[in-house]
Amino acid sequence: MAEVVIVENAEAAGALVATEIVELIERRADAVLGLATGSTPLPVYQALRTQLAGRDVSQVRGFALDEYVGIDPAHPESYRSVITREVVEPLGLDPQRIHVPNGALATIQHAGDDYEAAIDAAGGVDLQILGIGTDGHIGFNEPGSSFASRTRVKTLTEQTREDNARFFDSIDDVPMHCITQGLGTILKARHLVLLAFGEGKAEAVAGAVEGPLTALLPGSAIQLHPHATIVVDEAAASRLALADYYRYTFANKPAWQGI
Ligand code: GLP
Repeated sequence: MAEVVIVENAEAAGALVATEIVELIERRADAVLGLATGSTPLPVYQALRTQLAGRDVSQVRGFALDEYVGIDPAHPESYRSVITREVVEPLGLDPQRIHVPNGALATIQHAGDDYEAAIDAAGGVDLQILGIGTDGHIGFNEPGSSFASRTRVKTLTEQTREDNARFFDSIDDVPMHCITQGLGTILKARHLVLLAFGEGKAEAVAGAVEGPLTALLPGSAIQLHPHATIVVDEAAASRLALADYYRYTFANKPAWQGI
């Protein structure tokens, strides 16, 4: 089963996950990171600024989970721009090594296959950072997504468009379509690290970790992965039936195991 780590706050979560990433880069200079957007991973990227300072990150590679379709890549809320602003620039990564699905309409029909090929050519993702939507989506795999899905175009739900409207002038400006790594793509990564904070994510987290495997809650796909780590604050953990057991196992975990 997935390992659940309950931490005091988002800052502690960021530090914990950043440490794991630094150790990965120490073992493998050209590590392949799976990068997520949204508010949730920001504490990880923030902690990495400090933890990676002075280290050689010139070989590090990265693949973003998703992108809006038809958005100008230069738009400040395109995921290309977000990844550049929050990850590539502050961490000093090589922009040539950081990939984001191509949401351009002209090439959208083969953009999914192209992205899968690029991930495969890189040897796969070593550590995939994930957030989770209030409806249980990961990446932009909305409810109903196949567990075997690969990178493809999806239609965003009204709920997701409402959730993401805060990044745009109005909900009408939130694109209708996206291109996202599939659940099958995400499951190929060697280590999944899903973060969630706040009461609003508690139901999605409980469903993903302890609920039945169901396409209705795409995050439940993580139960199929041999190495999945869920890092949550107390509020996001509040609906977990086995919360006490997760605290107990983490408190008694050998330090050498990492997360
Ligand atoms: C978007 C992203 C997801 C992210 C989710 C939750 O839909 N495509 O990758 O996990 O939002 O966002 P937040 O972390 O801001 O709550």
